[in-house]
Amino acid sequence: MLAIAAVFEGFSWRVSRRELNRHRRPNESLWQVSQRSMDVLVFTVFVEDSAALTGIVIAATGIALSHVTGNPYFDPAASVLIGLVLIGAAGLLARKSGRLLIGQSIGPEQLAQVRKIIAADAAVERVGHLLTMRLGPDAVLLTAAVRFQRRLNLDEVEQAIERLEHAIKLPYPAIQHLYLESGALKAASRSVRQTAAQPVPQVLPQPSQDTFMSQYPIAVVVGSLRKESFNRQLADAIAKLAPPEFSFNQVNIGDLPLYNQDHDANQADSVKRLKAEIGAARGLLFVTAEYNRSIPGVLKNAIDHASRPYGQSAWAGKPAGVIGVSVGAIGTAMAQQHLRNVLAYLDVPTLCQPEGFIHAKEGLFDAAGGIGPDSRKFLQGWMDHYVEWVKKHSS
Ligand SMILES: Cc1cc2nc3c(=O)[nH]c(=O)nc-3n(C[C@H](O)[C@H](O)[C@H](O)COP(=O)(O)O)c2cc1C
Repeated sequence: MLAIAAVFEGFSWRVSRRELNRHRRPNESLWQVSQRSMDVLVFTVFVEDSAALTGIVIAATGIALSHVTGNPYFDPAASVLIGLVLIGAAGLLARKSGRLLIGQSIGPEQLAQVRKIIAADAAVERVGHLLTMRLGPDAVLLTAAVRFQRRLNLDEVEQAIERLEHAIKLPYPAIQHLYLESGALKAASRSVRQTAAQPVPQVLPQPSQDTFMSQYPIAVVVGSLRKESFNRQLADAIAKLAPPEFSFNQVNIGDLPLYNQDHDANQADSVKRLKAEIGAARGLLFVTAEYNRSIPGVLKNAIDHASRPYGQSAWAGKPAGVIGVSVGAIGTAMAQQHLRNVLAYLDVPTLCQPEGFIHAKEGLFDAAGGIGPDSRKFLQGWMDHYVEWVKKHSS
């Protein structure tokens, strides 16, 4: 009976272990990754099955010792031990799920970031109180009192609300319910408020387990629009090497118009969205391709957009890292030098060392989209320096 129980428990334990392994960092133990995991389901299965397997081993040992020694006390002693193991597991589960389900409300820093995102939108005149309520591990309700510019018509307010939803839910996907309340528009804007209360549009990324807890939302700018871009893959893969308090959101630069200074006073919605997303971030990560020994035009276009109007640059003061991968052996070194030049002018404190000139080679990425074993140590080191840099320089 014990052997059959061990087979079934072992099978489900293996499934939970495989799931945890997917999020495991180099040198991290299974226990550490389970502690870090925000997926209460995986954590529960892992802890329950570990306790069950331990119990089976204890029971088998107790029975065996009773038989071998003829001492009947081994069997009940094993039962007591099993009871203790189960009490320990129950305690662990209560602590973890309690913390995830009721304890962790949105912190003051995150609230301040959300306030910044809202205030950064050109349509917003003033931001009043913000209230949040946690509905579950991945579901938070946010209400915000916002006064929009009085000159705006309802269509423009509606667009602003959509923009704000997008800008808030990108770094904080757990904010699934968002209500913007505007006193000045109360009478006329019933339909607008309903729009604000609608669920997340399909184009938005699905909530990830880690992002809401993030103290350091990072805006990632990938300098390639190519669908199978190595740089996009690199951006995804190195994000997995960061600690849980970091979250990474790739901003869309593919829908920006060509920069034209004539439009500075009336920037396109896509530009306003980009600026709001950068405004909400505590750090920047540029992962760029190299085109003809410099940065791709799409990247420069995005940088120019978000640097304007003069004096209202979204980039200034945001700590940044620069990295890139190319099929050429120089691994985007020239592009990165050019980019550093631009960022220096824009007052972006940029990590100097280590440099990340990555050559696109077989095995750079593993089957799960992580960094392959040959490059993992180097890129983990790069990420560790980047994390320190952002923590040191972000406001
Ligand atoms: C217009 C163009 C110019 C390029 N110039 C360079 C270059 O100067 N140096 C280099 O290493 N690779 C160069 N490449 C090759 C890129 O490294 C390669 O296309 C790479 O896959 C681009 O990054 P991505 O995969 O993220 O799109 C160039 C590619 C294109 C399309």
